[in-house]
Amino acid sequence: MGIVAAGLFVAVFPGNIAQLTEHRDAFGLDTDRGRVIRLFFQPVLIAWALWATDAVGARRAGACPGGIVPPPLDADVDMTVPTLALNDATTIPQLGFGVFQIPPESTKEAVLTALRAGYRHIDTAQMYGNEQGVGEAIAESGIPREELFVTTKLNNNNHDPADVKRSLRESLDRLGLDRVDLFLIHWPLPTVGDGDFVATWRAMVEAREEGLTTSVGVSNFQPDHLDRIVAETGEVPAVNQIEVHPYFTNDAAREATRRHGAQVEAWSPIAQGAVLDDPVLVGIAGDVERTVAQVVLRWHIQRGDIVFPKSVTPARIEANFALFDFALSEDQMAAINALDTGDEGRRGPHPDVMDIVPD
Ligand SMILES: NC(=O)c1ccc[n+]([C@@H]2O[C@H](COP(=O)([O-])OP(=O)(O)OC[C@H]3O[C@@H](n4cnc5c(N)ncnc54)[C@H](OP(=O)(O)O)[C@@H]3O)[C@@H](O)[C@H]2O)c1
Repeated sequence: MGIVAAGLFVAVFPGNIAQLTEHRDAFGLDTDRGRVIRLFFQPVLIAWALWATDAVGARRAGACPGGIVPPPLDADVDMTVPTLALNDATTIPQLGFGVFQIPPESTKEAVLTALRAGYRHIDTAQMYGNEQGVGEAIAESGIPREELFVTTKLNNNNHDPADVKRSLRESLDRLGLDRVDLFLIHWPLPTVGDGDFVATWRAMVEAREEGLTTSVGVSNFQPDHLDRIVAETGEVPAVNQIEVHPYFTNDAAREATRRHGAQVEAWSPIAQGAVLDDPVLVGIAGDVERTVAQVVLRWHIQRGDIVFPKSVTPARIEANFALFDFALSEDQMAAINALDTGDEGRRGPHPDVMDIVPD
């Protein structure tokens, strides 16, 4: 692109000079001073044309070479990942990296790729079996601990209050950390055993008070589950991590979460790839000159939710991070909201009936 522009420039510029020189008396171009000005400015202008066209092209493609965020095209656009306030006076980066279904042996490399690309928020879980790989990547990255936000989640076989702190200490050992930033009850399991997720929640709060985690929250909690833990303990979770994507906007659970003053984290933000061929999304992606995944992730960001797309593919890891140099219009946001298919759009189990407990 830059080479083409420079070629055109070189071809056109002498023509302009020829025209001008017909009026050289008026422009003074046949003087020594005029020749010096031309000799100096022609290479400067060619260099500028090369730089400007390549820089614009790279940003249109959403490129972040080496994970370095390019300067904004528009001075009003902030390219950094926003942080959102949590209700316990801490903050969380709105964009992170999820590691569900990344095999343990590939996790360190994937997380290192994400950290190099600029991600500073990692979402793992006891259930994923890959906390150790996350910890190894954090250690190898050399990034100061205070610049990172690390979440893990209580496995379904650790709901007994006696198991909460024990299992979190084991997670910390695997992660190589002395505390996590956020610890979540992974699933409420209302039909398992006595279904007493309130006792589990009390033990989570104790783990926070002991300093094993900075914040505590829940995941897959329906509005009535949230109402119950808040009414019975007075402790509001910092976040509720729930399934949200264009085919399942899950607005009832989002609204209940916000009503309690907690932040919404949207899991499976691109529906594990199921939304990527949608014609409405493909059309919007063409209009804004971004990928469909970037459009969907940007939709979440503009709805105010926290997202952590998962990928093991370096180019996708980088592209999923390039969300802050474009915006969707109100009409585009509304068109994506309209793709909701309600409960039929769920990819995961319904939290009221999810009862899988590992041995
Ligand atoms: N709390 C919960 O119960 C719960 C449940 C599910 C997920 N989560 C969290 O949410 C995170 C994200 O959800 P998820 O992993 O289920 O699904 P996701 O992020 O919606 O989608 C991941 C899938 O999309 C592909 N992909 C990623 N970026 C892409 C791109 N730019 N273009 C095309 N394909 C792309 C990935 O393929 P490749 O990897 O092959 O590139 C992978 O197959 C998880 O990792 C986890 O941290 C939480």
